[in-house]
Amino acid sequence: MKLFIDTANLEDIRKAYRIGVLSGVTTNPSLVAKEGVKFEDRIAEILQAVPEVESVSAEVTPDAVTAEEMIAQANELIKINNNDKNITIKLPMTLAGLEACRYLSRKGVKTNVTLIFTVNQALLAARAGATYVSPFLGRLDDISEDGVQLVTRVAELFRVHNLDTQIIAASVRHPDHVTRVALAGAHIATVPFSVIEQLVKHPLTDQGLEKFAADWKKAIQ
Ligand code: G3P
Repeated sequence: MKLFIDTANLEDIRKAYRIGVLSGVTTNPSLVAKEGVKFEDRIAEILQAVPEVESVSAEVTPDAVTAEEMIAQANELIKINNNDKNITIKLPMTLAGLEACRYLSRKGVKTNVTLIFTVNQALLAARAGATYVSPFLGRLDDISEDGVQLVTRVAELFRVHNLDTQIIAASVRHPDHVTRVALAGAHIATVPFSVIEQLVKHPLTDQGLEKFAADWKKAIQ
């Protein structure tokens, strides 16, 4: 399973890129708003900061409601960094979003259909040609449903029907989500930088380092 970072924070993106674990970046309107920067400028900065990834998702804005409006926005987003091959147009799971997905996919533009909460939604997005689908597991867990189970079932569906759309497990809240979606067959987990930091950590690693440091003080130098 590959790892994407789920943020519009440039510093966090650079940190994750430096340690070599990053295959992509996902953003959404909430994440961009949190940064207090102009959307297009930030997408350009991200594309330039991570040249060796496969995908940077830029979402059409909530005021694009029709397929035509989404496609018009996508055409502008594609130009942001001189038709950067990594730009991925993130589209909402709506009828219009699917129509835009089909159009853009046929034009060879990467697409990511977001806010997926059912297997049927994932099937529709895949049939519309989506490069990626983003099931939101944390938000399902929040309403006492099983987010990981959704990923398991979508992975099974794509396997059974040979669909090559990739699953981006999104709304990932903690390391156990990462382990479980990897085993469930997600192709990608997109995670905040805080979760990457948690993945690195283990109390026995910290204890071991402390012991090595203490013993090293006693060693003959
Ligand atoms: O990748 C989707 C993500 O940004 C949503 O996460 O934690 O707001 O449900 P969350």
